Amino acid sequence: MFRSHNCGELRIKDLDTQVTLCGWVHHIRDLGKLLFIDLRDRYGTTQIYFDSNNKPQLYQIAKNLGREYVIQIEGIVRERSNKNPKMPTGDIEIDVDRLTVLNKSKIPPFTIEDDTDGGEELRMQYRYLDLRRNVMKETMIFRHELNLSIRNFLSEKSFLEIETPFLIKSTPEGARDFIVPSRLNPGNFYALPQSPQLLKQLLMFAGMDRYFQIVRCFRDEDFRADRQPEFTQLDCEMSFVEREDILDLFEDMMRYLFNKLLNIDLPTFPRLTYQKAMETYGSDKPDLRFDMPIIDITDKLKGHGFKFFDDSEYIGGLLLINKPSVSRKYIDKLTEWVKSPQIGSTGMAYIRYLDGELKASISRFFSNEDLQKIMNSLKAGNNDILFIISGNKEKSLNILGNLRLKLANDYQLIQKNTFKPLWVIEFPMFEWDDENQRYTASHHPFTSPLNEDIELLDTNPAIARSNAYDMVINGVEVGGGSIRIHDKNLQKKIFKLLNLTNQEAEDKFGFFLKALDFGAPPHGGIAFGIDRILTVMLGLNSIRDVIAFPKNNMGRDLMMQAPAPISEEQLKELHIKII
Ligand code: AMO
Repeated sequence: MFRSHNCGELRIKDLDTQVTLCGWVHHIRDLGKLLFIDLRDRYGTTQIYFDSNNKPQLYQIAKNLGREYVIQIEGIVRERSNKNPKMPTGDIEIDVDRLTVLNKSKIPPFTIEDDTDGGEELRMQYRYLDLRRNVMKETMIFRHELNLSIRNFLSEKSFLEIETPFLIKSTPEGARDFIVPSRLNPGNFYALPQSPQLLKQLLMFAGMDRYFQIVRCFRDEDFRADRQPEFTQLDCEMSFVEREDILDLFEDMMRYLFNKLLNIDLPTFPRLTYQKAMETYGSDKPDLRFDMPIIDITDKLKGHGFKFFDDSEYIGGLLLINKPSVSRKYIDKLTEWVKSPQIGSTGMAYIRYLDGELKASISRFFSNEDLQKIMNSLKAGNNDILFIISGNKEKSLNILGNLRLKLANDYQLIQKNTFKPLWVIEFPMFEWDDENQRYTASHHPFTSPLNEDIELLDTNPAIARSNAYDMVINGVEVGGGSIRIHDKNLQKKIFKLLNLTNQEAEDKFGFFLKALDFGAPPHGGIAFGIDRILTVMLGLNSIRDVIAFPKNNMGRDLMMQAPAPISEEQLKELHIKII
C-alpha cells in the first residue's frame, strides 16, 4: 500500500494515528533542530516534521530533500502547537518515522505557487509543472465538474451523447481546415471537423431526436486570446423544435450550471436583435456589465454647417459620465487610438462640461448655445463628456463599440464578479465578401432564414435575416446556433446564393443533399465553447488558462514542439512532396 491517506484529509480526529502519505515536497523550512516540510498532492498539503533530537539519522536524510522530490513517509498524526486556520489540515502535523524517496527532482524552472515567477511560454513548455500549481489544478477540477454537470443536465432531458468521427470531409464554419493525408488513398485527404455540424444534423435525420457531445473541434484560423486551433464544444441538436424551445432549454442549462458550480443565480436572459445590439452597443456580443449605450445624434449634429458631419451617413456618441479627471492628453491619445489601423476611424470629436464650463473640439462650427442644447437633450451634466464618431453607419457603430469597451477598461466601469448574459437573435443571413465579390453565410450554410424573410432571398438577400442566435455572457460569445434548413430546395437555393454551382454543391455536400431526400425532420441546435464558458465563469483573460495542454499564439505546442517535420520515409508513404 503506497498510502493510507491523501495529503488533504487528516484532521484533529485522527490524532495519534499511524499514517502513510505520498506526495511532492512543496516547502522546506529548516529551523536547525527541526525540519518542516509541506507535503503536497492533488488533495491538499500536510505539514510533516523531522526532529533531530529524537531521530538524528532521519533528520540528516531529510536535509538532503529538495523541492518537488516525490516522497513517501510513515508517521504519527500530532496536534500542531502553531495551528494554521487557513489550511484544512492546519490543526495537525506528522511526526515522521520513516522516509522513502520515490523520485528526485531537478529544481523546477519556476516556482510552483499561485503567484509563480514563470512567464507563460516557460509555463507552457513545462506544463506538467504548471499544472501542479493550485490555481491550475483547481481549474482542471472545475472543468471536470462543468462537463459532468452538463452531461447530467442534458441526460436528464433525454439527450444522448453520441460520438462523431474526426476523420471526415470538410464541414465549413468559416475557417480553414486542418488536413490529414490518407496513406491508403494517394492524393486524398481527410479534414478534421471544424464542428460536427453536418453529422449532428444527420443524427437528427436518423431519428436520434436529441443529441449532444463534448467534442474537440479544429480550425486553422488566426490567433486571438479567445481562440485555439483545437478547442472543445458542447455540441447539441434537437428535432421538432422552434427557436424558443432551444433558447429556453439552454438558458435553463446555463442557469443550472452557474447555480451549481458558482452558487450564482443568473437573471432571465434579455433578447436583443442583431440590429439593436449593433445600434446600441456597436457589437454583436455586447458587454452589459456596464451601461453607456451608443446614442444616435445624427439629427442633432447635422445641418450646422460642419461639412464633415453634414456629409456623414451617421453620427453617434458615447457619454462618459462624471469624469472630471479626463485630461486633454488622454483625449489626444484616445483620438490617436481611434485613428489607428485596427480601429480605423478618420477622427473623433468631443463636447464636455468641465467644472461648469462647456468645451468642445467642434466649437468652431457650433455656437455655445447649440452645443448646450445638444448636451441638454442628452441630459449631460457637469463633468460629463460626449465622444463623437461620424461617417458610414456600420463602420461608425463598430468604432463606437470598440471605443465603448476601451472607455470601460480605462475608467474601470466594469463591475467585477457580475455576470450579464443575453441572447442575440435575428442575425443577417449573409455577409458580403468584398474581396471575393460574393455572399458568405453569417452563421453557416445550413442555417434557415426567418420564415418571414424567405421571400427576400429572391428579392433582396442582403437584408434577409436568419434564424440564428448567439448566447453572450460579459461580452464573450459563449455559444451559437440556429434552426436548420430541412427542405432540399431551400438548401439548394442557399448554396446558389453562396455562389456554389450545382456541381460544387454536389461534390462538397452531395451526401447531405441526398439525406435530405429521406425524411429529414425540422431541427435546430446550438454549440457552446466550453473553454470560453470556463474562462468567463472563472473570470480569466485567456482560454489558454483553462486548457490542460494549450497551443501558443503561433499554434505551437511548446512542450512537445509540435508541429514538427516528419521523416522522408513518412512523407513518401503519404505521397507528399514538400515544395
Ligand atoms: P460556431 O462557429 O459559432 O458554431 O461555434 C460555436 C462556439 O464555439 C466557440 N468557438 C471557439 N472557441 C475557441 N476557439 C475557437 N477557435 C472557437 N471557435 C468557436 C464559441 C462559439 O460560440 N456548428 C455551429 C454551431 C451550431 O450551429 O449548432 C458552430 O460551430 O464559443
